[in-house]
Amino acid sequence: MIVLGIETSCDETAAAVVTGASPGPGTIDGQVVLSQADHAAFGGVVPEIAARAHVEALDRVVAAAIAEAGVSFADLDAVAATAGPGLIGALLVGLTTGKAIAMAAGTPLVSVNHLEAHALTARLTDGLPFPYLLLLVSGGHTQLIKVAGLGRYKRYGTTIDDALGEAFDKTAKLLGLPYPGGPAVEAAARQGNPARFTLPRPMVGRIGADFSLSGLKTAIRLEAETVAPLSDTDVADLAASFQAAIVDVVADRTRHAMAAFAAEEPNAAPALVVAGGVAANRSIRGTLEALAAETGFRLVAPPLELCTDNAAMVAWAGIERMEAGLVDDMGVAARPRWPLDAEAAGIGGGMKGARA
Ligand code: KG4
Ligand code: ZN
Repeated sequence: MIVLGIETSCDETAAAVVTGASPGPGTIDGQVVLSQADHAAFGGVVPEIAARAHVEALDRVVAAAIAEAGVSFADLDAVAATAGPGLIGALLVGLTTGKAIAMAAGTPLVSVNHLEAHALTARLTDGLPFPYLLLLVSGGHTQLIKVAGLGRYKRYGTTIDDALGEAFDKTAKLLGLPYPGGPAVEAAARQGNPARFTLPRPMVGRIGADFSLSGLKTAIRLEAETVAPLSDTDVADLAASFQAAIVDVVADRTRHAMAAFAAEEPNAAPALVVAGGVAANRSIRGTLEALAAETGFRLVAPPLELCTDNAAMVAWAGIERMEAGLVDDMGVAARPRWPLDAEAAGIGGGMKGARA
């Protein structure tokens, strides 16, 4: 099967053509990702700017991916577009474009859940069999999920306040480091002393696999205010102390989810997949490697360009859904919220629901 994928849920305008069949691996025939640099000036993504930038760029991005793959619309078995969760204006651009191409080419349309696309990436890259455990950590998501099968997800944990990437971005802002904050905080932390500031490790040791990062955010702000004005050494030490706290939290929460997974799936060859921009962090990766070695899990970390937002994962999810007969009609709507595990999404409500 050959599918065109379109991704516009946040600030990446992306299109890709992927060939393959379930359970993978698949082949990426063409792939283009355009990151919207304009948001750096605002210290974060501005929804209206993102939507307009998608409108301006998407036709060219799709044409480039199609050309790179050396195919035409008529060759496609389907068009897959992200329909949620994400910024509603941004989503509408990609989904409407996907509908238009599907209509013009006379091919089926598949609407894709962005989180499902992240969740299935390990099958595109490695042909990983179900079930497996997914740690999804990006600017918008922090989730530990059992991927039991296509459309079958069980969430072990999520954040009750800030996402992990968001915590890195807010810490960077506090320390006067550039956006996106993750790479900047990691670079500063490399020069710093992680033991200089004693920061809390929220949720560590608690039952379950949920995260909470707002207490850590407040703690580092108070420490920064105490030592202000910040020297380069202060910034490095604060960044290192923050990252050390985050690493401990991720390790503890993941360990809990691993135990739950192993108890539920005693016959599975256990595997942990990491995805999302925060998975680029070397300290976090190193900790997960050690944890996997200790617990006997196979660690699958797709290459970085497939961990962050892209359209190859959307095309792949489209292939898997097509094979399962899950085609959409032209009336399908974009949805800003679309949790993978509908049962877990209601629990806790409030911020937990919103961040889901
Ligand atoms: O998956 P992604 O590219 O976009 C979405 O949020 O969907 O993730 C971006 C997030 C940002 O919050 C960024 O600060 C964080 O991933 N990030 C990192 C690192 N590189 C990117 N966080 C920690 N360490 C990094 N090296
Ligand atoms: Zn994403």
